[in-house]
Amino acid sequence: MEITPESLDPSLRYKLLIGTVVPRPIAFVSSISPTGKTNLAPFSYFNAVGHKPLALAFSVAPKPDGSEKDTLRNVRPVSEGGTGEYVINLAVESYIRQVAEASEPLPYGESEFDHIDLTTVSSQVVKAPRVAESPVAFECRTMQIVPIGTFNLVIGEVIHWFVRDDLIDENYRVNTQKLAPIGRMAGNDYCYTDRQFTIANGLPR
Ligand SMILES: Cc1cc2nc3c(=O)[nH]c(=O)nc-3n(C[C@H](O)[C@H](O)[C@H](O)COP(=O)(O)O)c2cc1C
Repeated sequence: MEITPESLDPSLRYKLLIGTVVPRPIAFVSSISPTGKTNLAPFSYFNAVGHKPLALAFSVAPKPDGSEKDTLRNVRPVSEGGTGEYVINLAVESYIRQVAEASEPLPYGESEFDHIDLTTVSSQVVKAPRVAESPVAFECRTMQIVPIGTFNLVIGEVIHWFVRDDLIDENYRVNTQKLAPIGRMAGNDYCYTDRQFTIANGLPR
């Protein structure tokens, strides 16, 4: 099939995109409103975008009614009505159901933490709490929000980093089998990451 994206209905474009850009890591974003209400939501338009400074980005679609998702409102800079800070918790096997549950929409100011079986713990630097069950958490400060049509790409600098002690050795090597991150595939499908291989001298072994 040869496809000109412009000629495809946006819903089909979305379907084909999330079926072909796979697997995607999942940012489980905890944020807080200026009045102190916590929020938690997953985003798989997500990746690392630099390490000097350490930067991560995720992209937020509008709500079906065109308004902004709670996460976007919260991570906007203070001058734009947000708190300009948030935590990206990594989505892992042990709480993948809660990740999916947290994507259910709630009225602004109502916290997903009150509805799903996960706990909060204070972050070191940012006001937003991190997910206590998360083995890796990136405390971020919003650097830039880039509009992409009706979407908004949130680029954040990681100003503090939590990695659970048992996952990392003295050479900063991460035990990714133990970390057990989850990837998002097409539709409601996810993947495990426990089937790995090494490429040495150009050959898989
Ligand atoms: C695994 C997963 C990945 C998702 N990725 C995105 C994404 O990249 N961008 C987006 O706008 N919504 C994404 N969603 C939907 C949001 O999580 C959902 O709209 C959520 O209700 C937003 O919450 P908020 O209004 O509290 O910010 C995803 C949902 C799931 C389950």
